[in-house]
Amino acid sequence: MLNFYSSPEINFRKGNEIKIAGDQIRDPVPIGNGDIRVLPLAFESFGVRSMATFVETDDIKIVIDPGSALGPRFHLSPHEREYIALARSRRTILEAARRAEILTVSHYHFDHYVPNFEDWVWLWSSPEIAEDLYRGKTILAKDINSNINASQRKRGYMFQKLNSRTAREIKIADGRSFTFGQTILQFSKPVAHGSPGTELGYLLMLTIRTPRCCLIHASDVQGPIDDETLRMILMEKPDAAIVGGPPIYLAGYKIDEGSLTAARNNMVRLVERVPLTVVDHHLLRSLEYRDYLEPVFREAEKRKHRLLTASELVGLEPQLLEARRKELHEREPVAKDWYNRLKKGELKEELIKK
Ligand SMILES: [Fe+2]
Repeated sequence: MLNFYSSPEINFRKGNEIKIAGDQIRDPVPIGNGDIRVLPLAFESFGVRSMATFVETDDIKIVIDPGSALGPRFHLSPHEREYIALARSRRTILEAARRAEILTVSHYHFDHYVPNFEDWVWLWSSPEIAEDLYRGKTILAKDINSNINASQRKRGYMFQKLNSRTAREIKIADGRSFTFGQTILQFSKPVAHGSPGTELGYLLMLTIRTPRCCLIHASDVQGPIDDETLRMILMEKPDAAIVGGPPIYLAGYKIDEGSLTAARNNMVRLVERVPLTVVDHHLLRSLEYRDYLEPVFREAEKRKHRLLTASELVGLEPQLLEARRKELHEREPVAKDWYNRLKKGELKEELIKK
């Protein structure tokens, strides 16, 4: 069992604080009347691909989508700084998960859960880390038998097969609700990963509700692009929404202009109604995200509503490492041999301490 994740300096100092983005210590942030508290754990604004989020109420503590990853971009390998951010994110997610009873998985993309195989190049995953993360937990996850594409079905099958003995239980969550004291976790029916009918498949949104407070986490809805997804979010009347923004870096290549316009229009309608919106993920793989969001910021301002990145919710400047990959490699070149050592797992202990 690897145990370097639980060295004393990375444990919670006291109370509810959790170390995020390396050495930044933060309390979960109250939303609405404060009955629900939320702490972003790993997002593009912290330098990795993820929407991992810790949520607590007086009844329950959960980690939503406890994965993080790096991705290919500009035909360049991720920079060393991205690997430091990835190792940190894994540490943070494991620490938060230790405090939580429940983990949820919205869909089976590797930036949303940790797979059980060893990979230090993109995922920072291993059988030991997966066991550490899932052991003893109740996992509420996307059904692998319906509304799922072939690759996610395969991954989901392995996820269930390899973790069902170590986890306390793994339950299908699609369209279901789970009650813990006064807290209700309501999973949506499967919604499109972006545009309706996309090959990227489906995901579950999660609404966390107490009698006087409501938060919705909508992972890769990409704005949302889909009007029906927006309607479902607004129907919950959330005090706060955490949404994955659209991948404007894929414009004209994997996503058409019409979808990006639809996503932006829907985000305008979202911030018109929701007092606090956190937008992050795919959208923050581009430095131009603020230009794209201009009409959305204008609407939020008009309504006196807040629109933030995940890092800004906890008072940190966005660190868009993937978007800055070219610049990072130019400024601080990384030796070829470094990547050979990384691939073999020789750097994992060194990077996790940074
Ligand atoms: Fe994602």
